[in-house]
Amino acid sequence: MTKTHVVALGGSLLRPEEAEKRRQWLGQLRQLIVHLEGNEHRLCIVVGGGLPAREGIELAKNIISNSNKLDQVGIAATRLNATILQQIFLDVGCNVAHSIPKSIDECVKLMDNHSIVVMGGTVPGHTTDAVAIALAKDCGARNCIIATNVPYVYDKDPRKYDDAKPMFDISIEELEKITGVGKITPGQSAVVDPIAVGLAKQFSIDIAVLDGRNISLLESALEGEEFDGTIIRSV
Ligand code: UTP
Repeated sequence: MTKTHVVALGGSLLRPEEAEKRRQWLGQLRQLIVHLEGNEHRLCIVVGGGLPAREGIELAKNIISNSNKLDQVGIAATRLNATILQQIFLDVGCNVAHSIPKSIDECVKLMDNHSIVVMGGTVPGHTTDAVAIALAKDCGARNCIIATNVPYVYDKDPRKYDDAKPMFDISIEELEKITGVGKITPGQSAVVDPIAVGLAKQFSIDIAVLDGRNISLLESALEGEEFDGTIIRSV
């Protein structure tokens, strides 16, 4: 049976600061997708909202305080980013679903007839990390790759603490201690969404966190090879 992979792709990855890097990254990702499809891999990519989500939420926050409504703004941004990738993969003739599923059930159904499905968020209350973990469970995947813009999970926030140490192989309980539990506020960023951590623990899904700016790391993880990053074990 063909293996289905689930990847949560951080929205910030789509927009490196330099224009040349944006072109390069999207081109390398497209090349990897073509290669994986050629080798009969099946892939669900759950894309985050990145900059448009943060900007949209900040703008709406001036007027709206209801967090569900702000989450809807974030979800719209994730679907914008999903559409960008979907169109890039369709352009080279990949067997990509022509619609952006709005739920996990819809995504699982689309996987029956497509090698690749790209989606964004689903409902308020969590981030695309949580969508990816729930999807991994429903696709029968034992693990989920979280490709983000930091190389590892650290024992504390590396943006605040110079002595933050990278973690290479930890348990889901250790990750839970780092992220805390419970819902984060709309647009708030965390290395892994605590809701996703809770779901991974509940469904026994292992997580691989890696630096998605380097496409070769993503390739290694998808090919089942060793990669530089953090492995989080749930079983
Ligand atoms: P993201 O998944 O983009 O969160 O959702 P993120 O951690 O900031 O990821 P990056 O930066 O793209 O890597 C952005 C916001 O959209 C809403 C939430 O408000 C979240 O903070 N959202 C997203 C939902 O409410 N539900 C979803 O299923 C997805």
